[in-house]
Amino acid sequence: MSHTLAKHILVAEESQTLAIANRAKTMKSQGIDVVSLSTGEPDFPTPDCAKQAANDAIIHNFTHYTDSNGIKELREAVAEKFRNENQILSASADTVLITSGAKQALVNTLTAICNEGDEVIIFAPYWVSYPAMVTMTGAKPIIIQTLPEHQFKPTPDQLRAALTPQTKCVIINSPNNPTGMMLTRDEMANLMAVLENHDCYILSDEIYEKLTLGAIEHCSPGSFPSIASRVCTVNGVSKAFAMTGWRIGFLHAPPEVWKQASKVQGQVTSHPSSIAQKAALGAMLGAHNDVQIMKQVFCQRKELICRLMSAIPSVSFAEPQGAFYVWADISQLLNTTIPTSAAFCETLLAEYHVALVPGEAFGAPGYIRLSFAASDEVITKAIERLAAMVHNMRT
Ligand SMILES: Cc1ncc(COP(=O)(O)O)c(C=O)c1O
Repeated sequence: MSHTLAKHILVAEESQTLAIANRAKTMKSQGIDVVSLSTGEPDFPTPDCAKQAANDAIIHNFTHYTDSNGIKELREAVAEKFRNENQILSASADTVLITSGAKQALVNTLTAICNEGDEVIIFAPYWVSYPAMVTMTGAKPIIIQTLPEHQFKPTPDQLRAALTPQTKCVIINSPNNPTGMMLTRDEMANLMAVLENHDCYILSDEIYEKLTLGAIEHCSPGSFPSIASRVCTVNGVSKAFAMTGWRIGFLHAPPEVWKQASKVQGQVTSHPSSIAQKAALGAMLGAHNDVQIMKQVFCQRKELICRLMSAIPSVSFAEPQGAFYVWADISQLLNTTIPTSAAFCETLLAEYHVALVPGEAFGAPGYIRLSFAASDEVITKAIERLAAMVHNMRT
């Protein structure tokens, strides 16, 4: 074949979390009793008010093309949320874009701002898709390793050292997937202070905002007036309202970015499903209690998984502050037979029938990520099996 395929796509990686989830599903379909703590999706049903709004949309034939930026009522509700809950004061229906999941909000933004050769700073451990999303635009992901002694939070010194004249954007993700850590307002302020004198964009992925598990309050970079005009904020209904399958995300961006991101969306997907947009609006307006209930359950599950994990020797972790992940260090266990966290997860799935994601997927080998977006029964079973594997490796 004389043709070559697109180089930016060829070098981008496939999603490893989806690959593991798919493998676990295949094993299950073969009758194997697989338990999975691999996926990042709440196991709750869609809130009733969202279902009702979707039903109404169908019954009333709200089933045609909408404004490609998303329906005005939803853009207004999202803008109000950004202003009131996140202190992003410039948010209006004209700076909000409704996208097909937070993923598309991230891709629209990166596509709108990145040129070939630009650098985008990503802190590791990172959410699996960031490097591929950057690579696909032709820009270069600059990976900065955060450290366990800093609770895997980026420090101002690390950020300062990573900035170059080519830096186009810095991605911030708090609460963090996979570490479960959150930046306090002071920590965020210190990072943003570094960016005050560096003319780049800040892309803040706040998809886990509602899932705070302790005393730390969520803080949005867009709430700092000195840099607010350069912050693009991403959120959506997937995690907050357990509505992953509806595929609705939100973007608030500076007007010049918004205009280009809107153009990308208009040419690529037009807009997310009209029915899903109505469902998202229903959730935004009426699902506050559902969110509180889900949050309580996640807090109880965090207690459960942390208690069970604490009893496993040679595995260390910090209690998560947000999202629904435990990020555990298994490096002490690795040996010549099982030399990497990827090999550890392979064996765990093949022999103990537990699906977890290895640190390699997040740019941090030696770790595993356990999602506690699962029932108490599944969590307990998975940790019992993990403990059995650890026991066998130690004896
Ligand atoms: C940090 C982070 N950002 C974005 C997303 C994507 O969200 P959505 O399903 O709304 O596209 C995820 C999903 O796992 C995530 O963990």
